[in-house]
Amino acid sequence: MSTVIKGGTIVTADLTYKADVKVEGGKIVEIGPNLTGTDTLDATGCYVMPGGVDPHTHLEMPFMGTYSSDDFESGTRAALAGGTTMVVDFALPSPGQSLLEALNMWDNKSTRANCDYSFHMAITWWSEQVFNEMEAIVKDKGINTFKHFMAYKGALMVDDDEMFSSFQRCAALGALPLVHAENGDVVAQLQAKLLAEGNNGPEAHAYSRPAEVEGEATNRAIMIADMAGCPVYIVHTSCEQAHEAIRRARAKGMRVFGEPLIQHLTLDETEYFNKDWDHAARRVMSPPFRNKLHQDSLWAGLASGSLQVVATDHCAFTTAQKRFGVGDFTKIPNGTGGLEDRMPMLWTYGVSTGRITMNEFVAVTSTNIAKILNIYPKKGAILVGADADLVVWDPKRSKTISANTQQSAIDYNVFEGKTVTGLPRFTLTRGVVAIEEGTVKTQEGHGEFVRRDPFPAVSTALSTWKEVTAPRAVQRIGIPASGV
Ligand code: URP
Ligand code: ZN
Ligand code: ZN
Ligand code: ZN
Repeated sequence: MSTVIKGGTIVTADLTYKADVKVEGGKIVEIGPNLTGTDTLDATGCYVMPGGVDPHTHLEMPFMGTYSSDDFESGTRAALAGGTTMVVDFALPSPGQSLLEALNMWDNKSTRANCDYSFHMAITWWSEQVFNEMEAIVKDKGINTFKHFMAYKGALMVDDDEMFSSFQRCAALGALPLVHAENGDVVAQLQAKLLAEGNNGPEAHAYSRPAEVEGEATNRAIMIADMAGCPVYIVHTSCEQAHEAIRRARAKGMRVFGEPLIQHLTLDETEYFNKDWDHAARRVMSPPFRNKLHQDSLWAGLASGSLQVVATDHCAFTTAQKRFGVGDFTKIPNGTGGLEDRMPMLWTYGVSTGRITMNEFVAVTSTNIAKILNIYPKKGAILVGADADLVVWDPKRSKTISANTQQSAIDYNVFEGKTVTGLPRFTLTRGVVAIEEGTVKTQEGHGEFVRRDPFPAVSTALSTWKEVTAPRAVQRIGIPASGV
């Protein structure tokens, strides 16, 4: 059995050309003109692109006294409907819990996934046990990324000495640390102050997390990574202050990556001033949405390459869950959805407006993160031998986003009412057609765990350079006698 995607234009991160793509046994087996196979998918008028990779999701995540409402089944169904063929979720040990035990819990949740997936491991506490288990997570379990929360004080937050210890361990293991960069101590005090002043609505969530708080933490995470001798990836970069820190570090030669979310690129802070409490609370996430100047900075970063990846941080809570925070904004579960909408929204607001090119679209939705996570060219590529995770993108197909027609399990959509032009005609996950002209044909349990090996090249280069430039005592001849 083979499938040929016929008559389309292949668009990758660096090339645009007309060719057919033949798929067999879940892999791309041939690329060229006039291919034949058992089945044909008509790609006339379409772009054939690597399926999206979303490196930041929280499916069925225990958080703020509840669980996010999309699980691995509905979440990956939403992903495929929007052209995303792989997600990377976060295994979150509760403080004191073994990393391996937490990973086991996430392994159990992910058996229902419709598309391929992987995990980042979160470091939520520090001990000799964590130090030791990090090696098993990298070498035995195939996970090369560790997430650190500088916010959520009293829950997931780690402090600087824990982060520095963990980053040094990442350097030794060839792993990449990820950081949620907000100063959690300052946020906690600002929250308490706002509440004491009677500011308890969802808008106070935004007031409690100003851009400076994110910028400071981003600078601090970058400095700690520099001292530890490892690269660092800043998740949900939402503001100019954080972007500026990343730009500056990259200009100094550091391997620092930044990940804006589609929500921050397209929605702004005025959402929190909506008179409808539910409307505003549904958009509560950390960091909060910002103003147009910050949005312009993020778009510029994607175009210029100082920011590399567009993700969603998909963490969907129902309106009923959001209402836990009526009367106290600090109890509104933080998180928004976006898995189904990331690629259509980015195409509509990015490619169609001329902010980014089609090739840059592929780079920031798929190829760059595949390289950063060390799964390229299995994912993120249209090459012979790569996984047939593909999206046949119809630039003329249009819809108005609505909670009534979405795959996500929640009862609203933060992009409700927005018309997007540019949608999948077909989405294929390892050669299997999961989405066909808007019809969902996903197969629960089809998704497989993708192993991600460490990056010895980067850590070897960084440790070699550190060794070359390490402080050394000057060897002197004829040292004078002590003056004492
Ligand atoms: O508000 C957010 N972003 N919720 C999900 C957890 C996180 O911080 O990424
Ligand atoms: Zn400490
Ligand atoms: Zn976060
Ligand atoms: Zn997140």
